[in-house]
Amino acid sequence: MNILITGGAGFIGSHVVRLFVTKYKDYKIVNLDKLTYAGNLANLKDIEDCPNYKFVKADICDYEAMCRVMREEQIDGVIHLAAESHVDRSIRDPFTFARTNVMGTLSLLQAAKVYWESLPGGYAGKRFYHISTDEVYGALELTHPKGIEPPFTTKASSGQHHLAYGDQFFLEDTKYQPHSPYSASKASSDHFVRAYHDTYGMPTIVTNCSNNYGPYQFPEKLIPLFINNICHKKPLPVYGKGENVRDWLYVEDHARAIDLIFHKGRIADTYNIGGFNEWKNIDIVKVLIKTVDRVLGRGEFEDLNLITYVTDRQGHDLRYAIDSTKLQKELGWEPSLQFEEGIEKTVRWYLDNQKWMDNVTSGDYQRYYEEMYAKR
Ligand code: NAD
Ligand code: DAU
Repeated sequence: MNILITGGAGFIGSHVVRLFVTKYKDYKIVNLDKLTYAGNLANLKDIEDCPNYKFVKADICDYEAMCRVMREEQIDGVIHLAAESHVDRSIRDPFTFARTNVMGTLSLLQAAKVYWESLPGGYAGKRFYHISTDEVYGALELTHPKGIEPPFTTKASSGQHHLAYGDQFFLEDTKYQPHSPYSASKASSDHFVRAYHDTYGMPTIVTNCSNNYGPYQFPEKLIPLFINNICHKKPLPVYGKGENVRDWLYVEDHARAIDLIFHKGRIADTYNIGGFNEWKNIDIVKVLIKTVDRVLGRGEFEDLNLITYVTDRQGHDLRYAIDSTKLQKELGWEPSLQFEEGIEKTVRWYLDNQKWMDNVTSGDYQRYYEEMYAKR
């Protein structure tokens, strides 16, 4: 197969590219990325010379370029991750999010349609897999049984017990109710993908995943930003009271789910991906402080005083919680890492890869992308 992975120089995309390039030596993996501030080819240094890997620098909004890549690389399957992904940026600059996430996805869909419909076999054996987010479902309440302090033990529809901050979960048929410009743009792109199946018969799949963490995440997101700040004893800007809840999944577990669903998922279907792993932001921050301080040989919780409560994010969603029972039951996927293990690996990776961090946080890197960002 010839597979086009968009956004492969970003955080999740780089893990997906690495997994596919190393696991499927007989596939050609084409990584298409515009290299925005979030795209970094250093994320793929270890596999860039593999014979089954090719990088193409292009913008998904460039329809002609998308048609050319589909045709010239004879693409059989698309795994679409390219997007503007940071909620805070979407609040400052919603237009960029509509352009990339909505129009970019549409341009890619149309290019795939034109190419695949031109082939004698049409859509047979083809697949357009769109990576989306749990944020399209909106926000859940923090509810708990009377007299029991959250997080409390509850039962997912799989029958498994886990800790949660509420008794409601996002299911595949939960109504879309996006609140931020980011989630609104992702919701819109999800609708376009499903429309291409319903209207033209394109074999599409959509998955909605919870918050990812792990190596190579751009340090504007909570976990890498805070690890770096703790390391350098800089303030940790906790939005509001730190009471918001997120459901965290190790990025390689997401990549494994993408591999499984790309190959075995049902066409026109949707799968939720998550690890039943809910944490309040403030508790995550304390885990990060504890882990970084221990790994660096500092006193236990020496850096608690770095916590700085700041003005809340506008429209800040209170709680996300994914029910991934369908994926577990139908395709047998489950997360491989316990959170404690994943956080330990993640902290150690950032501390061991200070050069990577210094590069993406350096004045030069930031200035280059901020100027580019300001021009758009
Ligand atoms: P990221 O911001 O780290 O990477 C995005 C990549 O897309 C970058 O390499 C960037 O250069 C590229 N890109 C941006 N605009 C482009 C354009 N116009 N043309 C081509 N390439 C472009 O994002 P991420 O966190 O890795 O997220 C990847 C995907 O997964 C996104 O679609 C996101 O919505 C989704 N997702 C992310 C999470 C998460 O926790 N990070 C969770 C669920 C779903
Ligand atoms: O749920 C999936 C989504 O997770 C993805 O679709 C997004 O692409 C990804 O960015 C992520 O969105 P969040 O907004 O949840 O992630 P972020 O790391 O920005 O923030 C996590 C939580 O921490 C959120 O409640 C806001 C809070 N926060 C974040 C930052 C950057 C802070 O309190 N302080 C901060 O400085």
